[in-house]
Amino acid sequence: MRTCRTVASLRRALAARAGDRVGFVPTMGCLHEGHLSLVRASRRENDVTVVSVYVNPSQFAPGEDLDRYPRDERRDAALLRREGADVLFLPADAEMYPAPYRTWVDVAGLDGKLCGRSRPGHFRGVATVVLKLLNLVRPQRAYFGQKDAQQALVIRQMVRDLHLGVRLRVLPIVRDADGLALSSRNAYLSAEERRAALALPKALRRAQARVAAGERDARALRAAMAAEIGREPLLQVDYIAVVRLDNLEDTAAVEPGNTLVAVAVRAGRTRLIDNFLCGEISC
Ligand code: PAF
Repeated sequence: MRTCRTVASLRRALAARAGDRVGFVPTMGCLHEGHLSLVRASRRENDVTVVSVYVNPSQFAPGEDLDRYPRDERRDAALLRREGADVLFLPADAEMYPAPYRTWVDVAGLDGKLCGRSRPGHFRGVATVVLKLLNLVRPQRAYFGQKDAQQALVIRQMVRDLHLGVRLRVLPIVRDADGLALSSRNAYLSAEERRAALALPKALRRAQARVAAGERDARALRAAMAAEIGREPLLQVDYIAVVRLDNLEDTAAVEPGNTLVAVAVRAGRTRLIDNFLCGEISC
């Protein structure tokens, strides 16, 4: 595996593989099985797999966890080497945002909803860094996790709007044995918060079973999930949403093929998200 810390060295590494099909997995590091499932898919579907590990400061709102976000470069590199990734891109801030930096991507209409309401500027930072990374790597396919469904939808819109010509592969959420969706931020949870957080997958599983049994009423689904999550005093609900996949607008009725059921809560200082899809984000 070749490790590149600069744009110039990444370009050299990619030039050496000209003509190969490139798969790209952007990450913020502290890798877990969710990330590794994306790396494995990329390896199956491409000739070269490039992984970036970059804690992108522009997607953290003021007061969020940028400074304490878990970082472990050596462990990440060892895991990626073991998985057979070909190129690891590990840029510094000055490499990604050379001063004076002035260009930003706003995916209007999708970035202010759901998580965007409580994380102002988050999706602008995500869209900007992902566009920059896609421009650098020029992959045929890019891999994202369904856990960050809104992120994937924002990126899908950007890819369409800007004719980026990359295929987006959005892969299923990977969970711990007890059902909790894997996230680098789970490391922040106390044992009590972690136990309480299991209300999310439980509520979503029950809602998904009701949809599978024919329930279409979004209000009834939201109420059932709110009751389940509300039983945990350690959780503060940010949102429980049943929205259309194409525009993230609230919907009154689940529309098979076009619905995202998503939940965000706070457990102490930690923000947790989870969801299920009635439809596809990959494109
Ligand atoms: O999902 C993430 O880890 C990040 O938001 C991403 C896509 C790597 C952009 O910084």
